[in-house]
Amino acid sequence: ALAVPDPGALLAWYDRHRRRLPWRAAPGTQQDPYRVFLSEIMLQQTTVVTVAPYYANFLRRWPTVAALAAAPLEEVLSAWAGLGYYARARNLHACARAVVEHHGGQFPSEEAALLALPGIGPYTAAAIAAIAFERRAAPVDGNWERVVSRLFAVEEALPKARARLRPLAVSLLPAARHGDFAQAMMDLGATICTPRKPACALCPWQSRCAARAGGAPERYPVKAAK
Ligand code: ADE
Repeated sequence: ALAVPDPGALLAWYDRHRRRLPWRAAPGTQQDPYRVFLSEIMLQQTTVVTVAPYYANFLRRWPTVAALAAAPLEEVLSAWAGLGYYARARNLHACARAVVEHHGGQFPSEEAALLALPGIGPYTAAAIAAIAFERRAAPVDGNWERVVSRLFAVEEALPKARARLRPLAVSLLPAARHGDFAQAMMDLGATICTPRKPACALCPWQSRCAARAGGAPERYPVKAAK
């Protein structure tokens, strides 16, 4: 049997190869929860390249959650124009107001409290908890799903496999550096463990990956026949 994937190997890879993205604080410095929140909402259904200028513009106009909460909704919606899925912008604004009204302008650090905020679903709650607050949380996005389904050669098809993937993802979590680990999974999925032609030779987990051992990593995640 293959050895269990070691989170330390992925973190060491991340230290060398992480993407420099505008919403990532310098290594070792604390992440502003508002910036994590803003970037994670924008990155839902929108690519990193498209998000970058919008993220910069929002931060310039509304540098804090209190500033965003005080903005008229119409201004937020017009600054959002071009990003699509406008419900996200309405929720962004509603969430900023809720953080100010119910949490004294400080994002809560507990996943469950984050989940109770408007527009924050399980993915975003886990992402903010891990990245901004170093909580042990697994923000399982499409990248995580691909990496985990390959590591363990999960034969069950998506979307049903999600129930199986979550505990496997949690089993990978390190004892510390939860924010880095979450984003390392995203970077591994975006740059190495790609949907097509994964660059397995560059992967820190190449010797631990059941899909690679089986010779057809691209076969995962298995998708339900249409
Ligand atoms: N996609 C969603 N969140 C992300 C993040 N923090 N870094 C890179 N890509 C992401």
